[in-house]
Amino acid sequence: MNATDGLCVESCERCPALVESRSRIVNGVGPEDADLVFLGEAPGEKEDEGGEPFVGRSGDVLDEALRDAGLARSDVRITNCVRCRPPENRDPHKEELGNCRGYLEAELETVDPELVVTMGKVPSEHLLDRGVAVTKEAGEVQDARIGDRSQRVLLSVHPAATLYDASQRDTFSDAIARAAELAGVADEEGGQSRLGDY
Ligand code: URA
Repeated sequence: MNATDGLCVESCERCPALVESRSRIVNGVGPEDADLVFLGEAPGEKEDEGGEPFVGRSGDVLDEALRDAGLARSDVRITNCVRCRPPENRDPHKEELGNCRGYLEAELETVDPELVVTMGKVPSEHLLDRGVAVTKEAGEVQDARIGDRSQRVLLSVHPAATLYDASQRDTFSDAIARAAELAGVADEEGGQSRLGDY
């Protein structure tokens, strides 16, 4: 049985390998009317333990970049393409992404954000439905078709990329700062700009 209220999936057994590997379903967190949604790939070990997206080392990197951009973690919504931890943290398979797609679409329809930030190759390709060279395209804004809606998306590298390649740190923090500015939620001098200005 699959049960969801638009934001939270209470039960789902669509992906046999993930049902086996997960401890729990990890739903998105943050305001139900957030202007900014940060989208990752799938829960890792810490997220599977804690029941919340991005609470491990990648989460620390994300939290710091949010702070630097004048945002608190609690100001934004954070979620994943796939809500169950894949075995040995492998990338989710195409079929698993497809199985979880309806939950993500329902979440984005409910939250209706100004901007979705795709963190890494998997979420970027999943929303844009094409190959993405994420290091090259980081910081770009594109429109994605999600269900019957058009959604503004900003491409970013994954926060984990900064942990094994220091040269990605600025790429990541610049993308987060740009996202805050585009969504009109940046706490910076000189006023705020809205997405519609771009
Ligand atoms: N990486 C992701 O893509 N998602 C998480 O929730 C944690 C790490």
